[in-house]
Amino acid sequence: TGFVTLDTGFVNTASCTSAITYIDGEAGILRYRGYPIEQLAENASFLEVSYLLIHDALPTPAQLAEFADKIRVHTLLQEEMRTFFSAFPRDAHPMSVLSSAVTALSTFYQDALDPADEDQVEISSIRLLAKLPTIAAYAYKKGVGHPLPYPDNSQPYVDNFLRMTFGLPTEQYDVDPRIAKILDMLFVLHADHEQNCSTSTVRLVGSAQANLFASIAAGVDALSGPLHGGANAAVLDMLEQIKREGGDVDSFVTRVKNKEKGVKLMGFGHRVYKNYDPRAAIVKKAAQEMLSTMDKPDPLLEIAFRLEEIALSDDYFVSRKLYPNVDFYTGLIYKAMGFPTKMFTVLFALGRLPGWIAQWREMTTDPATKIGRPRQLYTGAAERPFVPIGQR
Ligand code: CMC
Repeated sequence: TGFVTLDTGFVNTASCTSAITYIDGEAGILRYRGYPIEQLAENASFLEVSYLLIHDALPTPAQLAEFADKIRVHTLLQEEMRTFFSAFPRDAHPMSVLSSAVTALSTFYQDALDPADEDQVEISSIRLLAKLPTIAAYAYKKGVGHPLPYPDNSQPYVDNFLRMTFGLPTEQYDVDPRIAKILDMLFVLHADHEQNCSTSTVRLVGSAQANLFASIAAGVDALSGPLHGGANAAVLDMLEQIKREGGDVDSFVTRVKNKEKGVKLMGFGHRVYKNYDPRAAIVKKAAQEMLSTMDKPDPLLEIAFRLEEIALSDDYFVSRKLYPNVDFYTGLIYKAMGFPTKMFTVLFALGRLPGWIAQWREMTTDPATKIGRPRQLYTGAAERPFVPIGQR
């Protein structure tokens, strides 16, 4: 009833109030709970930032230690969960495995199905943060046909994930501290981004009072799309395609500008940023750092630099305020770390998890929350009489 406005894609419509993340897209500013992303990326660990997002305060050393300890003891999956991984086909996309496994968690923690039970919400948050890296590593192991390892709780969060992913029972695996540090920092950069597609999905599902596991699984599915988290994989596919076709960056850009069907400059553009994505600036630096440690430079990095250079000086991109976003350089780093392209979006999900949890908790405790239920403008047929099947 009343006045309904059309806002396809929610370009101008706020769905909630939130005190978690601040973005000024025109100025290229991003802050979590008031803290500039640059300072957090430089100084804070991923678990510190997770605590900050969820509890609205930087943890004291004691609080951080307690938080990390709680996460540490929950890294194991219920043993039955392992059967899930053996049942999926070898070539299953790891994002599909991830969302299925997150949904499956709710079958093991049925006490946690009531979103109003604060103690259960707290333990579910801890379980998700603890178990997502284990699930992600298993999704990778599934694809390469290796045995599923157990977590090693003596290891820090990111090291444990890297060891489960790349280690083998047959040999000693030492995590490269430089890689662990960069991955931890990338998780920080991905940890929240206010009402993006996956976070809005988490909130929408949660607004029906669905439980935290169900809401997060829906977020993982939303993130898998190539216009959202899937863009990091799509960027690498694009760079590889340009390389295969002889490295002609200019003609690729021309195809983008001509709006050839399905040809976009992946990793460019953003609904909110009309300026350089502050995360992209940090990632670009990290990519240069990471790739400079490699014996052989990655020719894809050269192609990426060239693409960025052309795009930033071309009127098509300038007039539309299209700048590199967080996904433009991340894939190159993940590739250099040894991750296959299919895993890139899983890494995004690991990073985004605390943001989803914080946003879900903010929503479920906000007395103003109502079930999300958009309106529509109907454009279908006017009333018409039913025609029996024999007369059609
Ligand atoms: N390449 C070429 N043209 C583009 C691109 C691009 N990447 N992005 C936008 N445009 C053009 C678009 O065609 C439109 O042109 P016109 O005005 O002539 O019709 C104009 O710029 C405005 O774009 P839009 O599609 O209306 O913008 P949107 O806010 O609906 O979409 C976006 C935002 C991120 C989905 C889009 O920029 C895009 O598809 N980018 C590529 C995919 C990508 O990198 N996604 C990751 C986003 S950041 C991290 C995340 O959310 O996961």
